[in-house]
Order: sequence, then structure tokens, then C-alpha cells
Amino acid sequence: MPTGSPPQPVLRLRPTTPADLAVLFEFQCDPDSNDMAGTKPRTREGFNELWQRIFADPGVNARVIEIDGERGDDHAPEIVGSISRFQAEGNNCVGYWIGRRHWGKGFASRALALFIIEDTTRPLHATAASDNACSRHILEKCGFRFVGCRMGEETDRFTAREIADYVLD
Ligand SMILES: CC(C)(COP(=O)(O)OP(=O)(O)OC[C@H]1O[C@@H](n2cnc3c(N)ncnc32)[C@H](O)[C@@H]1OP(=O)(O)O)[C@@H](O)C(=O)NCCC(=O)NCCS
Repeated sequence: MPTGSPPQPVLRLRPTTPADLAVLFEFQCDPDSNDMAGTKPRTREGFNELWQRIFADPGVNARVIEIDGERGDDHAPEIVGSISRFQAEGNNCVGYWIGRRHWGKGFASRALALFIIEDTTRPLHATAASDNACSRHILEKCGFRFVGCRMGEETDRFTAREIADYVLD
């Protein structure tokens, strides 16, 4: 019998479309995910408004993370998360989010490694809640350099939290 890890499903990134929003909305509502990221979920209205702005903004590179599905005989593609480059405070930043039921399968690590090959914008910044050890580990594995920590203020979107800043030069 062969030994070792089970085979990994094919994973790809593709441009986000309006048809993907229902799944992404469900992912962004998950309480555990928001705790980890230090975020507050958007209302459906706020979420849809945000995405209308994103679709109209050529400065955003918004991708869904898709695998060849494990359900059914046709292995139909399944969305497992999202990853985007966007502007924040004048910097190009990357952010990612994996659906709760897909955690721990290496998808964020693979998606970020692929994203930084496909999108060569540099410097590319990233932030993580400083207690989000999982995301910080992924950033460091992908070559992002730790810049420092600062206190993030409470906003409509974020909880007050210490934030770790990273950059890929
Ligand atoms: C953070 C998140 C993206 C991780 O996604 P994922 O697909 O489960 O991550 P992966 O399976 O690719 O990798 C997890 C890595 O973190 C490691 N890890 C897990 N818990 C850890 C911890 N407490 N401390 C350090 N490393 C940890 C794992 O061992 C693994 O690393 P390895 O492959 O080198 O062993 C996902 O949990 C998520 O979307 N959370 C909510 C949103 C969020 O936090 N987004 C990031 C904002 S910066």
C-alpha cells in the first residue's frame, strides 16, 4: 500500500463574478471566522454594495479560490474561499478568507502561494490580528516580512485589536 498524505484536490484562482456572491456572503457571516480575523460581518445590503464597488474598480484583483469538487461524479468545481488585492491607506494589500468547513486543508497556503505568482504587484502588504497565529504563519511561509504591531481601533468593520503588519517586497 502506498503511504504518505492523501492527494490534494486541484486548486485554482479565478476572477470573482456576481454568481459567487451568495457563497462568499455565507462564508463572511461565520462567527468563528470573524473572531479570528477581528472583523464584524457585513449585512447583506452592505456586502452587496461593497461588491458593486469592487466590480467597478479596476484597482482590485478579486479572485475566488476553487477546487475540483469532491461531491458527485462530475467533480464540479467548489468555491472554498476568496483572495483579493485591494488598496488600503495608499498601499496594495492582499486579504484572504476560507469557508469554515474547509479550514485546515492547506487551501489558504496554496491560494496565497499561487496568488503572489499570478499577481506580481509589489510591495504587497498584509495585516493579521496579532493573535491570528494561523494567518501569520501562512504569510511568513509565503515570504512576507513582519514589519511590526500596532493597535487597531474599533470601527464598523473591525474590532479593537492589535494588528500585525507584513509586506512582500
Ligand atoms: C486563517 C485562514 C485563512 C487559514 O486557512 P486554512 O486554509 O485553514 O489554512 P492552511 O490550512 O493553508 O494553513 C494553516 C497553517 O497554519 C498552521 N496553524 C494552524 N493553527 C496555528 C496556530 N495556532 N499557530 C501557528 N500556526 C498554526 C497550520 O499548521 C498550517 O501550517 P502548515 O501547513 O505549515 O502546517 C482561515 O482560518 C480563515 O479564513 N479564517 C478567517 C478569516 C481570516 O482570518 N483571514 C485572514 C485575515 S489576515
